Amino acid sequence: MTARIIDGKAAAAALRAQIGGEAARFRTATGRAPGLAVVLVGEDPASAVYVRSKGKATREAGMEGFEHRLPAAASQSELLALVDTLNADPAIDGILVQLPLPPHIDETTIITRIDPDKDVDGFSPVNAGRLALGFSGGLDGFVPCTPLGCLKLLQAELGDLSGKTAVVIGRSNIVGKPMALLLIGASCTVTVAHSRTKDLPDVVRQADIVVAAVGRPQMIAGDWLKPGATVIDVGINRTESGLVGDVDFASASAVAGAITPVPGGVGPMTIACLIRNTLVSAARREGFELEKNL
Ligand code: GUN
Repeated sequence: MTARIIDGKAAAAALRAQIGGEAARFRTATGRAPGLAVVLVGEDPASAVYVRSKGKATREAGMEGFEHRLPAAASQSELLALVDTLNADPAIDGILVQLPLPPHIDETTIITRIDPDKDVDGFSPVNAGRLALGFSGGLDGFVPCTPLGCLKLLQAELGDLSGKTAVVIGRSNIVGKPMALLLIGASCTVTVAHSRTKDLPDVVRQADIVVAAVGRPQMIAGDWLKPGATVIDVGINRTESGLVGDVDFASASAVAGAITPVPGGVGPMTIACLIRNTLVSAARREGFELEKNL
């Protein structure tokens, strides 16, 4: 079997076009653009690239992007003061503090300080709790962008996910845990595997859906997969041979039914979901009704 390639770049472009249309309606109705503030502390080159592309996507969707850069030596109280200012600023609908932060700053303290109604990353305890409890119908909060993008790709590929067996490899707060909760919400039977999981290839071989988010280059091989499985590769690993995922694409694409490439799979959807969350935040804050269920 040769797997279908799940084109995340095309899916993200389609979502961004829809968001752009809704953002234009929002601007006409409210007289202002949705605003996203992105905060970068320090000079980590990979984080700087992500922050730049988030700003570009924000402006391309007809929204305001505000970039705040603090030196690597900035204190925790300086960063908290900036978060407080952004929380209070009516022009800001979404706040994203790029992680990882320098080691002298406590990430939990910062994440907890962001107003949950502006937490478009979905990392705050309030939004994590809403996701864990399965809130919906306006009581739901913001879902982290990478797992939300993965869910959208899976639903576009497979339609209804109910009854499917899913294995999420990785248990981070940013990807693994919220991904598992989203899949439970979609009525999958979910296993979360991690570095201590025994017989990982046998666990992965049970899965109709595999989401790999471990950060280990090309760890998941084709012979770990159930034939026809749908494989979502969240990994972005810089190696001597270039960017690779957590899945060994060559062997996996000979067994899987469908697979995301790296790059061009999950990455573009993460950014599209960030501007989606920003638009949804702006709409909620202004009482503006979105026409499309983005
Ligand atoms: N670092 C890696 N991924 C993310 C993300 O989705 N949001 C933030 N804030 N930092 C990250």
